[in-house]
Amino acid sequence: MSVTAIPGVRLDDRVALVTGAARGMGAAHARTLAARGADLIVADLDAAELSAVAKEIRDSTGRRVECLELDVTAPDVGERVVAVANDNWGRLDILVHNAGIMHDWKSLGDTPVENLRPYLDVNVLGPYAITRAAAPLLARSEAPRVIFISSQWGQVPGGHSYGYMVSKTAQLGLMKALASELVSQKILVNAVAPGAIHTRMVPDDVYAEELAAVPLGRLGDAHEIAAAVAFLASDGAAFITGQTLAVNGGALVVGA
Ligand SMILES: NC(=O)c1ccc[n+]([C@@H]2O[C@H](COP(=O)([O-])OP(=O)(O)OC[C@H]3O[C@@H](n4cnc5c(N)ncnc54)[C@H](O)[C@@H]3O)[C@@H](O)[C@H]2O)c1
Repeated sequence: MSVTAIPGVRLDDRVALVTGAARGMGAAHARTLAARGADLIVADLDAAELSAVAKEIRDSTGRRVECLELDVTAPDVGERVVAVANDNWGRLDILVHNAGIMHDWKSLGDTPVENLRPYLDVNVLGPYAITRAAAPLLARSEAPRVIFISSQWGQVPGGHSYGYMVSKTAQLGLMKALASELVSQKILVNAVAPGAIHTRMVPDDVYAEELAAVPLGRLGDAHEIAAAVAFLASDGAAFITGQTLAVNGGALVVGA
């Protein structure tokens, strides 16, 4: 393929699932994928916020958007996602594992084992269950993609809870394990590792601390992470799998 023939970031008529889409980065991924031509299944615990985001995306892009009130830790999560995709389109092309939780940092002595389980359930086991159930459907797509939203704190340890750091690191391990098996079915699996992005996940005082460690001197915007997701979902990324794209304003590189 010549350089001039490399395709742009269009996702026309692909069907994408975005978890944790009721607000923050998930809503930004959903908006961005739809603006590039994809239909959507948007999923979240919060049905009211989800439905408002879905309406806004339908109104602004004209794309089809199905809402799925979903807890990614539910035992039947994979089957429910596949049922919505099959019932509405008979296909699924893109999974964006974005739903996540984060709570305050505590020392080892103040962190019992039970504290880690919810993080592993939401950030690792839910995405695993969804990918496992959806893999046969993805394998029928012409450009199947699985994209994890991990974190800078999955790449290096930082001032976040053990559950958060361990689960975000585990996401990257899961991403590579899936990439290595699913490449035989042409399913490409990658991750985005955001740095400090302004959403409701992190209290303002924590962001103030994180800002000091961003070489570009500002927090990131959710749509800057969504742009990386759209790229990894696009034909322009057709030769990329098993990789982590860090979008963090120069953190971990400058002065590291
Ligand atoms: N904000 C940051 O600075 C930052 C940095 C790095 C990575 N991340 C990651 O980006 C992703 C999105 O974060 P955000 O900042 O937009 O957070 P957010 O808290 O604004 O949004 C998270 C969304 O996930 C949903 N969710 C939580 N648990 C769920 C479950 N069990 N089932 C379904 N939905 C669930 C919430 O309802 C919410 O809508 C997360 O995975 C987070 O760990 C965030």
